[in-house]
Amino acid sequence: MLTESEPPGLDAIPRERLPALLRTMPKAELHIHIEGSLEPELIFKLAARNGVALPYASVEALRAAYAFSDLQSFLDIYYAGAGVLRTEQDFFDLAWAYLERAAADNVVHAEIFFDPQTHTERGVPISTVILGLAHACRRAHAEWGLSAKLILCFLRHLSEDAALATLDAALPWHEHFIGVGLDSSERGHPPEKFASVFARARVLGLHAVAHAGEEGPPAYIESALDVLKVERIDHGVRCVESAELVARLARERMPLTVCPLSNIKLRVFDSLSEHSLPALLAAGLCATVNSDDPAYFGGYVNDNFVQTFAALPALGAREAYQLARNSFEASFAGVAEKARWIAALDAHFERQASSGG
Ligand code: HPA
Ligand code: ZN
Repeated sequence: MLTESEPPGLDAIPRERLPALLRTMPKAELHIHIEGSLEPELIFKLAARNGVALPYASVEALRAAYAFSDLQSFLDIYYAGAGVLRTEQDFFDLAWAYLERAAADNVVHAEIFFDPQTHTERGVPISTVILGLAHACRRAHAEWGLSAKLILCFLRHLSEDAALATLDAALPWHEHFIGVGLDSSERGHPPEKFASVFARARVLGLHAVAHAGEEGPPAYIESALDVLKVERIDHGVRCVESAELVARLARERMPLTVCPLSNIKLRVFDSLSEHSLPALLAAGLCATVNSDDPAYFGGYVNDNFVQTFAALPALGAREAYQLARNSFEASFAGVAEKARWIAALDAHFERQASSGG
């Protein structure tokens, strides 16, 4: 049974100890696109391995191109970068590199998005994608006890028929993914466009999540809930534009997977100090902190935590505990695993509160 109480002494932890506390606390990451963890160095390595010509002279020149004005300007470069991924080994290497970074950030559980259509449209078999990623997930669990699961995302700028065909094509490898998601260009592609494919996924026993309320309006969050029947909202930060919706999300304890550095790079907020995360927590929402596309947005999950807390004085040890706890609560892990992670989290904070420095 999970208790609702927080460990004692959180107020006694001084602000200067927050960065270390945030880095060392155990956490789950629930919003990470594996293609968005493709670092420029690995793009160059895979391009050389696969004989792919790149339109950039160097890693530095490629990184310099990462100046985005909105979601679409990011997606254009993100899909181009993924073009170097060709073989099962490439997908293994991609996921392994992310999992090494996640383990270093004390992530004990990761639910990882992948975009099969980005690869199948280029002629890469879906089995190549899934088997390479799943191999890395299995090995991370065997070697470090890091639990890593896959979520298959549909590209919302493509048709629902294409999404249905993708789900069908993935079914022989059903055991390797736990759910479906919805990503890519949000404006003009409301969740209800994908009602049938999400209904089919639910019948198959898959979990369901969707990006909504990143650039799209609060109505997209409502239709993700009411039509797609998702169990988490990815981003969801524009919910603050509707007091009624915020009250509903709090009442239903509907998790939001918030990605602060992404929101700054894609200009959802002008600066971290203006981010709505403190308001979401104050309203009682089950918000979590995640990296989204860490190779493109300037940081992995711990960078997101540390930079966001540094910019927002309203966030202290109590909110750090709440966010990590929310990440476990919002995950699709079993009750026993959640209880074990939360017990480890409690023990971590109790040690920090009693150590005094
Ligand atoms: N939003 C939508 N699609 C995406 C994102 C995102 O933040 N990252 C990768 N695909
Ligand atoms: Zn995302």
